[in-house]
Amino acid sequence: MADIEGMKDAKQFAQDVEFSSSGNFHVKGAANLDWGMKDRLSRIFRPDTGKTVMLAFDHGYFMGPTSGLERLDLLIPDLAEHADCLMGTRGAIRTSAPANYNKSIALRVSSGSSVLQDDLSKESLVVSMEDAIKMNASAVAVQTFIGADGQKETIEALNQAVNLGSRYSIPTMGVVAVGKEMERTTRFFLLATRMLAEFGVQIVKTYYCDDFEKVASTTPVPLVVAGGKKVPEKDALTLASNSIRSGAAGVDMGRNIFQSENPKAMIQAVNKVVHEGMSDKEAYEFYLHLANPEK
Ligand code: R5P
Repeated sequence: MADIEGMKDAKQFAQDVEFSSSGNFHVKGAANLDWGMKDRLSRIFRPDTGKTVMLAFDHGYFMGPTSGLERLDLLIPDLAEHADCLMGTRGAIRTSAPANYNKSIALRVSSGSSVLQDDLSKESLVVSMEDAIKMNASAVAVQTFIGADGQKETIEALNQAVNLGSRYSIPTMGVVAVGKEMERTTRFFLLATRMLAEFGVQIVKTYYCDDFEKVASTTPVPLVVAGGKKVPEKDALTLASNSIRSGAAGVDMGRNIFQSENPKAMIQAVNKVVHEGMSDKEAYEFYLHLANPEK
């Protein structure tokens, strides 16, 4: 390992210069991957826009039923047509997502903690790649806790998923976790997203932060931004818009969609931002119009 004494901070982000190794493929960092990987990534990232709207409902695996996610069987069919990718556990998807939607799946394959504990950072790989294949997963998602007690075991789980994913051409989405006591600085996200990309994941899910352009420019795979805790619809659309304008390849949004006053209108407004480059202001107008058609 390099001696970290005297290591200089990164400075040359060249964030205005496009990623130079995309070849003619629309997903960042994927030009040299094999056909199966590219096919799965193309189911997640629309070839016409290069972007994705993931609907995240993988909260119950450590929180139980939470607001908006009480009845997965009612929620998922209502929203799925407006998502490019459904992100959830095998239990949620098998029981509650009709199999005839033909939506890509980002299958949550790590777990190990619950809200009954203070430390949520202990997760390992708990779903076999065979089961992911049986579910026709377009990616497997593994959460990593960089800088927390569970760092080592979650990095091992992530690398295990990358190894197995390479064998079967299933992309791994590395999820950057933020915990109660964990940093949420630009420095943290620069470190965590780059670490995950260097471990070989094909997608990184992270959070938005100041100077997000720098995080996007130093991570050689697509970044998908989590929505985080529920905020007013207008603010959630601003988050989506800032993320896309700063180099994210999509959003993986949960609470800000399923806890919205009108989830169906909200996911359609998010789509406008992500795929059509609509501004946050226009998208909010669009949301209001769908949510209150008679006004
Ligand atoms: C959290 O454990 C999951 O990874 C969620 O998928 C992620 O946080 C995105 O959901 P939300 O937009 O509600 O933060």
